Amino acid sequence: MNLSAHLRDRLLRELALQDEFLDPRTLRLAAAERMAILELKDETSYWEQAADSDVELAALRDGCLVAETGFFRDETPFSLLPCWAQARRHSGETLRILSAPCSTGEEPYSIAIALLESGWKEDSFVIDAVDISRTVLHAAQRGLYPTRRVQPLRTDRKERFLQRSGASWQVRPEVQRHVRFHERNLTQPNFSAPAAPYDAVFCRNLLVYLTEAGRHQLQANLLQSLASDGLLIVGHAEAAQIGRHPAWVSMPPPGAFAFVRRGAVPAESLAIGTAKSAPSPTPEISLPSKTRHREPSDPTTARLSQDTAATALLDRVEALADAGRLSEAGALCAEWIGQHPSNSRAHYLLGLIRSADGHPTEARQLFATALRLDPHNHDARLHLAAESAAPKKPSPLPTGPGLVPPGKRSATPHRS
Ligand SMILES: C[S@@+](CC[C@H](N)C(=O)[O-])C[C@H]1O[C@@H](n2cnc3c(N)ncnc32)[C@H](O)[C@@H]1O
Repeated sequence: MNLSAHLRDRLLRELALQDEFLDPRTLRLAAAERMAILELKDETSYWEQAADSDVELAALRDGCLVAETGFFRDETPFSLLPCWAQARRHSGETLRILSAPCSTGEEPYSIAIALLESGWKEDSFVIDAVDISRTVLHAAQRGLYPTRRVQPLRTDRKERFLQRSGASWQVRPEVQRHVRFHERNLTQPNFSAPAAPYDAVFCRNLLVYLTEAGRHQLQANLLQSLASDGLLIVGHAEAAQIGRHPAWVSMPPPGAFAFVRRGAVPAESLAIGTAKSAPSPTPEISLPSKTRHREPSDPTTARLSQDTAATALLDRVEALADAGRLSEAGALCAEWIGQHPSNSRAHYLLGLIRSADGHPTEARQLFATALRLDPHNHDARLHLAAESAAPKKPSPLPTGPGLVPPGKRSATPHRS
């Protein structure tokens, strides 16, 4: 095995990553970037340097990681959290949240903003944010974002919680002071959370990339970090996997991808966060552009009307699928793909429908095509990863700390 393949293997093991998520080309690109920074010309001597130095290997690894994130990503979890936290608030106690992994900080800052907006005061909550990558942690700590990264924020939120700094936006100190950043590997058996137990843990968009052993270890680490009645929030492509296990019960509203341990919370509190009962801490949630009504500004522009027709038809497909009319939705979407084979969203939607219908192989192919047609179709990427990682039969979760006597936790995943 040559040195670069050997280093790739080391990184796969360190990250507990599925093989397909560390493309050798990505590794070579990251190496080329490091060589440029180090002003090295010879690739072989670079690989030798990386093999000999943990610091260099970590820098190389950081260049390979998927750090995609955003403010108020998926929105609903950030509406649920303040309502849920309010309902279980014990006077005088500090609310503790873990954001893991936190990437460049948009997730933990969004949590802080959501809590401040709903009246949580200074010192009433802390957020620990962890990630393996020093590169993203530095960016997160700085809290300075280019304009395009703050675009998803509503204007009132942006102006209240961030301030302009040249061409960028700086998170205000009153938000930053609630968030503490830490370097941790979440898939290692010796993981220790900075200040467990947490009332809520956000662990979004990491699980899908991991090997089965990595997923077990991560879940064991999360369970150890979460209070016995705590709230776990995962990414939308990860909810199906968590939801399959009888240990967890999912919390409304749909779209929060939130879970509590079964039996940990009285049934009536599962209503928290539903549209009826929740106060509205995030007053106006703007619709994603795909569902907004769009009139082509120039009706004679064929391209625009084609886009509008595609949007309308695919919205119809989504509505049918949401209503459980999977075969109608599938037929309509397949027919559309027959006429418009290069539409990434159509392939992605048909993949979701096939997955829900119990056809994982076909779903995987559709997600892969959606991704090939649009490499930025992040949803397709996540679902492809989730389908590839999905166990053939329900996979047991590791037992949580509340269920295992202290000291019994082992490096190998527990099986219930
Ligand atoms: C796709 S981002 C998700 C960020 C955020 N949770 C979200 O959903 O927007 C994935 C992050 O996981 C981090 N990561 C990957 N493997 C990790 C590990 N073993 N331990 C800690 N962080 C890890 C990466 O550095 C990256 O910042």
